[in-house]
Amino acid sequence: MNVFIAGGTSGIGYSLAEHYLSKGYRVGICGRDLNKIPDHNFVNLKAFKADVYQIDDLLQAVQAFLPENEDLDIFINCTGSYAEDVAGQISYEEAEEMLSTNILGTAHCFEVARRVMKGQLTGRIAVIASVSGILEYENSSLYTKTKRSVIQMADAYRRGLKPFGISVTTIAPGYVDTAKLRDLNNNDLSKKPFVIDVKTATTLIADAIEKQKKLIIFPSKMKWMMKSLAVLPSSLLNLIMFRKAKWMKNE
Ligand SMILES: NC(=O)c1ccc[n+]([C@@H]2O[C@H](COP(=O)([O-])OP(=O)(O)OC[C@H]3O[C@@H](n4cnc5c(N)ncnc54)[C@H](OP(=O)(O)O)[C@@H]3O)[C@@H](O)[C@H]2O)c1
Repeated sequence: MNVFIAGGTSGIGYSLAEHYLSKGYRVGICGRDLNKIPDHNFVNLKAFKADVYQIDDLLQAVQAFLPENEDLDIFINCTGSYAEDVAGQISYEEAEEMLSTNILGTAHCFEVARRVMKGQLTGRIAVIASVSGILEYENSSLYTKTKRSVIQMADAYRRGLKPFGISVTTIAPGYVDTAKLRDLNNNDLSKKPFVIDVKTATTLIADAIEKQKKLIIFPSKMKWMMKSLAVLPSSLLNLIMFRKAKWMKNE
């Protein structure tokens, strides 16, 4: 089996790479900084420097990874860019990176996977959105809006690719204890509800891809909290989420 993971150099993506390597699969990963990849002895792991914003680079990386006449069985997009802007301001550069990676990069991942899997009549594509993208309210952060777009984009590709035997699984995680989440929160996750470890997240994601689920939201406590919030009127939701963001930032 051949698995390609965009954004596989760290965090959830690298953990998924380890998971598939332990099953004897060939795994390709890409990212912008290959120095982040932990030291390893995996012979079946190939790493490629590629920014998902550059579709030609991404396509070349996947083609270079895939042995001739073999199928791409699984493509997972774990890339993501996050900057907080509910309770504060973000720079133009932070906004640009979120739009480039989360919106255009996601579209590029779907396009590359679609082109490579075309004609196979089989294949699984998965994308990591976020539980925050489940909620619709006017003042949600740019990150949340980009992740909501990821969910919508995945819905469109799922419908478009189903007749060709290709499944699309959307992953909407709550807080997962990765180095990135810790960096963003000064190593203090005490205000983050229902944090789960990366291995648990990896098992849930791999299981959803295996079963070709359309959408998974985890952990279940976070899922039910989001479903309860989703029924509130938009104005009340706006207020609650704004206060929550300020509290998390100690403002
Ligand atoms: N951790 C959480 O609590 C959490 C919760 C909900 C959703 N998520 C989502 O889960 C995904 C993984 O998060 P994580 O916590 O594992 O963070 P992470 O370790 O920073 O993983 C992100 C990966 O994407 C790569 N990447 C980022 N921008 C890229 C680009 N433009 N082109 C190519 N690669 C790019 C990064 O490598 P380079 O920097 O080398 O490019 C890295 O390998 C993200 O989409 C995130 O939004 C995370």
